[in-house]
Amino acid sequence: MLTIERLSGPFGAEITGLDLNTELDTATFDEIVEALHRHAVICIRGQQSLTPEKHIAFSRRFGELEVHVQSSFNLDGYPEIYCITNCVDEKGDALGLAEAGRVWHTDLSYMREPSRCSLLHAIEVPIDEDGNPLGDTLFASCTMAYEALADEMKERLCKMQAIHSYRQVYGRIKAKSKPGRQGLKDLTEEDFQKVPPAIHPAIIAHPHTGAPILFCDFGTTESFVGMGQDESDTLLEELTAHTVRPEFVYAHKWHGGDLMIWDNIQTQHFAVDDYWLPQRRRMQRTTVKGPAPQAAG
Ligand code: SIN
Repeated sequence: MLTIERLSGPFGAEITGLDLNTELDTATFDEIVEALHRHAVICIRGQQSLTPEKHIAFSRRFGELEVHVQSSFNLDGYPEIYCITNCVDEKGDALGLAEAGRVWHTDLSYMREPSRCSLLHAIEVPIDEDGNPLGDTLFASCTMAYEALADEMKERLCKMQAIHSYRQVYGRIKAKSKPGRQGLKDLTEEDFQKVPPAIHPAIIAHPHTGAPILFCDFGTTESFVGMGQDESDTLLEELTAHTVRPEFVYAHKWHGGDLMIWDNIQTQHFAVDDYWLPQRRRMQRTTVKGPAPQAAG
């Protein structure tokens, strides 16, 4: 029997009483989708035995899956699963990307059709010497952030567009990589050409709820269309500081077996870097394609 309860932050909910290794009926799946749109992030607890096949099959019910451009971090035999981990094999080679999500971002906003939602499965969660989980993921509500903007800023932004690029988020994460960590591989100009930048309205309407959303993020947004780089950087920093104010942020403390689903359209997220081997963090993500963003109003 499925139970949905609010999480302890300003938004988000947790779901218990589900086993995603079994086929869910349509009514139950619809309840999950409704909860996702309403709460922006939902954590389905207790999925320790979720297999990659079932993770993919459940994710596909939300839409077509993306295969990440950094293909060396995709799970062997399951290209739809992107491995986020600080763990290495016996030769010391990375089993996934350790540095994913080290800047505030929305998954795949650099695509013409960014991601609708991502589903991250916690296989191993690092803990400190007192047994407390490390490696939290922070989520910010871009709906709440929009609501709290001054009217003049809302009016200004609703006429603007932002350029989002993979080169930007790659560069920002690379700059934060720590020596000794398995970070991003070096990409060539040809690699970047495969993922050209995308232009989106700065304020978009949620495709299901219609709510207006502030849609630009520090990680991926390169600049605002028609604005000089310095002015653009200043505005982006101001909007990021606004969006990640504590009253709009939920910090998720992971438990092994959590399957966290976040609505990429109405949130940004950030992975906290506060653990180090032998503290092991092993996560697997699927990423669901979404529609091209539409301007609000
Ligand atoms: C990400 O998907 O950006 C990484 C999130 C995390 O590992 O906490």
